[in-house]
Amino acid sequence: MNTKSNCPPPAKKLKPWTRMNPSELANNTSNPIRKIVDNIKMPSNANKEIIRLSLGDPTVFGNLNCPDVLTETIVKNVRSIKHNGYIHSAGTEVARDAIAKCYGNPVTHPLTRDDIIIASGGSGALDIAITGLLNPGDNLLLPKPAFALYQVICDAHKIETRYYDLLPERNWEADLVQMASLIDDRTRAILVNNPSNPCGSVYSKEHLKAILQVAENYRIPIIADEIYGDMTYGDSVFYPMASLTTTVPVISCSGLAKLFAVPGWRVGWIAVHDRNNILADIRAAYFKLSTLILGANSLVQSAIPAILTPVKGSAEEKSLAAFKKQYYSILDANAQFTLEKLRKIRGLKVVVPQGAMYVMCGIDTSILRDVKDDLDFTQKLLDEESVLVLPGQCFGVDNYFRVVFSAPQEKLGEAYDRIASFCQRHSK
Ligand SMILES: Cc1ncc(COP(=O)(O)O)c(C=O)c1O
Repeated sequence: MNTKSNCPPPAKKLKPWTRMNPSELANNTSNPIRKIVDNIKMPSNANKEIIRLSLGDPTVFGNLNCPDVLTETIVKNVRSIKHNGYIHSAGTEVARDAIAKCYGNPVTHPLTRDDIIIASGGSGALDIAITGLLNPGDNLLLPKPAFALYQVICDAHKIETRYYDLLPERNWEADLVQMASLIDDRTRAILVNNPSNPCGSVYSKEHLKAILQVAENYRIPIIADEIYGDMTYGDSVFYPMASLTTTVPVISCSGLAKLFAVPGWRVGWIAVHDRNNILADIRAAYFKLSTLILGANSLVQSAIPAILTPVKGSAEEKSLAAFKKQYYSILDANAQFTLEKLRKIRGLKVVVPQGAMYVMCGIDTSILRDVKDDLDFTQKLLDEESVLVLPGQCFGVDNYFRVVFSAPQEKLGEAYDRIASFCQRHSK
């Protein structure tokens, strides 16, 4: 063996190794939810089982499972060993065709595979959608309260965030006058999340059209986070924003996580609903950005045609329809149950949930003794009743907490009874 090194000796005396600094990008990346949740202390001697109504993951309690068609297709595709290789970084053509067919409409909002970029989850789709459009110093209008990731992506890339208020007294509709007042010549998009996390709201056609009018008036595209798609309850109906305009460009982000109860599988997508080639270069930029991670999971993508475009009249189509009916009716029943239970509690103000799997409850600190704010409420509720919810501060608002109502009803009932005891004990 040749032990002689070819490496030239150092020119100068060597400096000692020193601890290295992370990049600015990493330093600017910080999820407020993590910071807040990490500061919540788990009770060390809880005498009751902890009930976690905090995580927006429909699979945690084991009562909501993904459709059989999805499981069977994945198993079949694993065995075929045809989906183990690299694929196009923006997704396979068949998967993009299926998304375009399922989410486009040839008359009102046509899509082709060239408008679809498949990403690693809805989060990956949002990352590409935002960073492919905005430069440092540009600004993005975001709802308040909002899913925290929008802010995280913007902060990491030095994109300014400006918040438009959602009004609880109007079922979390956006304050459009205030929204318009935030716009300047560096505003590059308005982000709309419908159905909403954390609000559980679903906007009417009229309200979505009114938001589109603001976008139209200022010539600003919409980024529509529609990951909760048609998960709606009661009389609420989901309208994809792109279906309501022929002039405003809409960049719609969605994915499999919530609609098919597989958040861990990490597949989402962007659908670019362009108008008159306004977004031609942006679409190309999105394809370029997809090459950064060489695309999303090939195996999961391979199941997209089976679940989004099953053959009409097939057993698979019927099975998927039955899955959806059952999944949504469980969530619908849980939404009603949650409303009934929580709205009776003195000191709380529940905003009626219309979709997704969330409800926001206002905390009346003038009624609740020893409760300073939502963070204090969360910690004390956990300490005294072993129920974990997320404080509104995680979403940018004070004196609310968010409940995820995907758990089985017995668990929800137990948790709501404990919340009721807590509030009663703390009532003035
Ligand atoms: C509003 C919203 N958008 C996007 C996402 C991200 O979805 P994914 O798990 O597919 O990354 C979530 C996840 O909770 C969400 O609530």
